[in-house]
Amino acid sequence: MDTKELIRRAFEARKYAYTPYSHFQVGAALLAKSGKVYTGCNIESASYTPTNCAERTALFKAVSEGEREFAAIAIVGSKEGEVNSLITAPCGVCRQALYEFGGPDLTVIMAKSEEDYEETTLGALLPYGFGPANLA
Ligand code: THU
Repeated sequence: MDTKELIRRAFEARKYAYTPYSHFQVGAALLAKSGKVYTGCNIESASYTPTNCAERTALFKAVSEGEREFAAIAIVGSKEGEVNSLITAPCGVCRQALYEFGGPDLTVIMAKSEEDYEETTLGALLPYGFGPANLA
């Protein structure tokens, strides 16, 4: 699975974003170490709080199907009908949720297009992360 393909899958997932309130649509594609890809979109709620980000949708789909180890996640986001002028980085809640399973080595790809993206690690986005090791 190369980076461009993972980004393409994130764009595909973004098509299903349910965003009647923010109109900001996000897609994520999470590559498990098994080689399988799990996709997610953001899903909003009239009562706002239950809104689920694309990254956590993908993560929870994967974990609920038995995956526990992940290699990379690609994220794309922009307003409905607009092209990505900025990269979308995972929110703080998603960083923490991903840290539980990906740890600091998870590769995070934040893309404007298949050609234009930034790549970093979860450890760089969430330094001194609190995870399972702290409770061991
Ligand atoms: N959102 C995501 O899905 N992922 C992010 O990384 C940032 C924010 C969603 C939540 C909400 O539906 C909309 O974008 C605006 O915050």
